[in-house]
Amino acid sequence: MKKRILLIVGGGIAAYKCLELVRRARDRGFDVRCVMTTAATEFVTPLSFASLSGEPVHTDLFSLDEETEIGHIRLSREADLVVVAPATADLLAKLAGGLADSLAGAVLLATDKPVLVAPAMNPRMWSHPATRRNAAQLRADGIAFVGPNSGEMAEQNEAGEGRMAEPHEILARIEEMLGVATKPLAGHRMIVTSGPTHEPIDPVRYLANRSSGKQGHAIAAAAAAGADVTLVSGPVSIPDPAGVSTVHVETARQMLAAVEEALPAEIAICAAAVADWRPTSEGGQKMKKDGGAAPGLELVENPDILRTLAQHHTLRPRLVVGFAAETEKVVAHAQAKLARKGCDLIVANDVSHESGVMGGDRNTIHLVGSESVESWDEMDKHEVAERLVARLGNMLGGKGSGTTAPGSTAPGAS
Ligand code: CTP
Repeated sequence: MKKRILLIVGGGIAAYKCLELVRRARDRGFDVRCVMTTAATEFVTPLSFASLSGEPVHTDLFSLDEETEIGHIRLSREADLVVVAPATADLLAKLAGGLADSLAGAVLLATDKPVLVAPAMNPRMWSHPATRRNAAQLRADGIAFVGPNSGEMAEQNEAGEGRMAEPHEILARIEEMLGVATKPLAGHRMIVTSGPTHEPIDPVRYLANRSSGKQGHAIAAAAAAGADVTLVSGPVSIPDPAGVSTVHVETARQMLAAVEEALPAEIAICAAAVADWRPTSEGGQKMKKDGGAAPGLELVENPDILRTLAQHHTLRPRLVVGFAAETEKVVAHAQAKLARKGCDLIVANDVSHESGVMGGDRNTIHLVGSESVESWDEMDKHEVAERLVARLGNMLGGKGSGTTAPGSTAPGAS
């Protein structure tokens, strides 16, 4: 029997993100019905939610049609979970005060099901004593919260706590509350590398690249629901994912040392954009202009972390996954890379400037194995992460416990 979510969409700029939430919830097999407040319909049309949910959208407390067909009591009772997103300051106040002067308010008062709210508002509104009081009251009433997150607001030059949690975070919470959270890598140990490396030229200069760490961090976060994850991250500006043990490094050599320290593990995912080369000598002092020719930069190759793991004699993880950042012939180069490095799977993506992958939020990938290539549609990096984690869970399950990847040795074996 499919679980049903009743989504109450509030009137905030984040309402558009709930379209993504509905789409992903339906992909995960949930039925979704939507109620929109009048203010919400100013931001997104009911038709958009109706199209994505495949159900009529309810907006009016006093609609005779809706009341005869499906009234607020039935709406609230037929759901397994009620989700309010974006939960505006006004909706939180109404819910805390028990006001039922709108369909959203009436449904929330009438429901006998768990309620999850995803607040979204200006940071000052979120920190206002009235909102603090309302939030405290709602928590005391057993209402669950997801977010808000910190970050940039829709308003220019505004930042702070008040951003609605991302759709994937809301969905993870929904699955947890409904007891259907999938933990494909439960019980496994996993190492993920992420971000760029910085290779010092002198004490103030370094070689680097444009990797944001978003894809690697998203994989670590997705795997953390179940797996014991060590994330070895180069310098990035995004926060450490929750539930993951993060080791911060700067250079490729430090990254390799941290990865080796984290062994043994059953899975290793090398998503970091490791600098292939580093300056031969890191001068002890800052290089100065002396009026002469520009100094030459002599480079030496960095250790290859992916290859070291894939060809490890004693502690090779059962699954070693590499990334291929290519600007042309994406699949062909990935196939060559798979063979050269000896890993089990390459996640190949097009990082040409036009693709917007480097630093962006979306990714189009090809999963390249020794005998197969699978191309995925463009999707959010978090969705790539969740699907990849689910796939690795299947691959490990398929291999059966105790068996190892081709040419590999089980962790701990000599
Ligand atoms: N990688 C690594 N250590 C390195 C270089 C790369 O672990 N020193 C890993 C990356 O994390 C990624 C994969 O290897 O998983 C592919 O890296 P890439 O730099 O694209 O491949 P190269 O082998 O350097 O090949 P090319 O430069 O020809 O693309």
